[in-house]
Amino acid sequence: MEQIRIVGGQRLTGTIPISGAKNAALPLMIASLLTRETLTLHNVPRLADVNLLARILGNHGVDLTVAGKRPGQRGSEGQTFKLTAAEIVDTTAPYEMVSRMRAGFWVLAPLVARCGRAKVSLPGGCAIGTRPVDLLIHTLEQLGAEIELDGGYVIARAPRGLTGNKVTLSKVSVGATHTALMAAVLAKGESLIENAAREPEVGDLANCLVRMGARIEGIGTPTLWVQGREALYGADHTVLPDRIETGTYAMAAAITGGDVLLDGARPDLLQEALQTLRSTGIEIEERPGGIRVAQNGGSLQAVSVETQPFPGFPTDLQAQLMALMCTAQGTSQLRETIFENRFMHVQELARLGAKIELRGDTAFVTGVSGLRGAQVMATDLRASVSLVIAGLAAQGETTIGRVYHLDRGFERIEHKLGRCGAQIERISG
Ligand code: UD1
Repeated sequence: MEQIRIVGGQRLTGTIPISGAKNAALPLMIASLLTRETLTLHNVPRLADVNLLARILGNHGVDLTVAGKRPGQRGSEGQTFKLTAAEIVDTTAPYEMVSRMRAGFWVLAPLVARCGRAKVSLPGGCAIGTRPVDLLIHTLEQLGAEIELDGGYVIARAPRGLTGNKVTLSKVSVGATHTALMAAVLAKGESLIENAAREPEVGDLANCLVRMGARIEGIGTPTLWVQGREALYGADHTVLPDRIETGTYAMAAAITGGDVLLDGARPDLLQEALQTLRSTGIEIEERPGGIRVAQNGGSLQAVSVETQPFPGFPTDLQAQLMALMCTAQGTSQLRETIFENRFMHVQELARLGAKIELRGDTAFVTGVSGLRGAQVMATDLRASVSLVIAGLAAQGETTIGRVYHLDRGFERIEHKLGRCGAQIERISG
């Protein structure tokens, strides 16, 4: 099995290109199921989750071609996917595929909206708490689908099509909002989605659906109004930059006392996180084409942060911030309010010498004067990258096992960091 080996202590300098957002690319690819015509997506990141979803969609009959480079396109830019679901050949998403990635479950909505039936295995994905799908199922029921659970599968039926309705989400959920949108755009009549997630990736999906002919108002707000259509059409859309990758590399640069330009990053997508980083003493400069992050001398200050739905501090950056705070001055309090059990990185960071105490949903991180390299294990996607961040600052060698977690969501991480001076390599063993 592959491992990542890091020799810490190198200062990061240079430019890191920011890839397209995984969490936008996945629902956008799934949206191709809503039309017979071709959906072209630019800036799709090269990730294991993207490849797995391509296989899930292929199983339903989506024809995927990866187009060549466009004129003027830089090498660092993502791939261009052309997805065509002329016919849906199978409305079942099997366990073997969906159990490996939670977002695979999201095919349920477009399949039932377009075909009137779908059978999708209950999902898998990162082991960060129970991660139920009750809200997604309830959303489809509110839009007229009949739902049955059988043998680990969710079976949705709407033989006469879905019907627009008021959908009130009892909790802010990205997946439930994607589900509501993809169902409502092909439902008969109007829908009102209340307490919708405002994550930029939801907005990216909504904007793409509008390009495909959907009528959606209120994009970026908690209330979305949708006028259902008989059919949607082909469109051309560029995946927005990954705000989680942006925040991750900002913290990687800072922990090494580095100075890095995050090329293509959009500051408006992570204002709260940037503000938090500024409050620790990191210099953040918003530039037209990216963000410059510098940490020149002096130690970072501890912070108190609570994860929240957008526009709050993202849960997907909690583990990385914890790694950063391991060497800050004072005790930081990091409260996780979105997922229970999203602290599996704590015991691994402790192996590197971090001083972290867990009390319920809050981690108290007391900065130490230095971390020491060790053998550690990636436990989930974001946790694994927190170990990379800590490893970059640790004295000596850190080896991270179960690298497949990293490959699910970070494109060519060892290349991107290596080009900025990190001593990092992938080894098999
Ligand atoms: C998405 C992101 C993930 C991010 C999360 C929160 C993708 C592919 N994944 O995950 O990276 O960490 O948003 O920003 O975009 N919940 C329920 N019932 C449900 C659905 C969710 O109780 O049916 C709960 C969850 O357990 C969690 C909260 O709602 O406590 C938010 O989860 P949700 O926003 O749905 O996360 P995902 O869409 O799975």
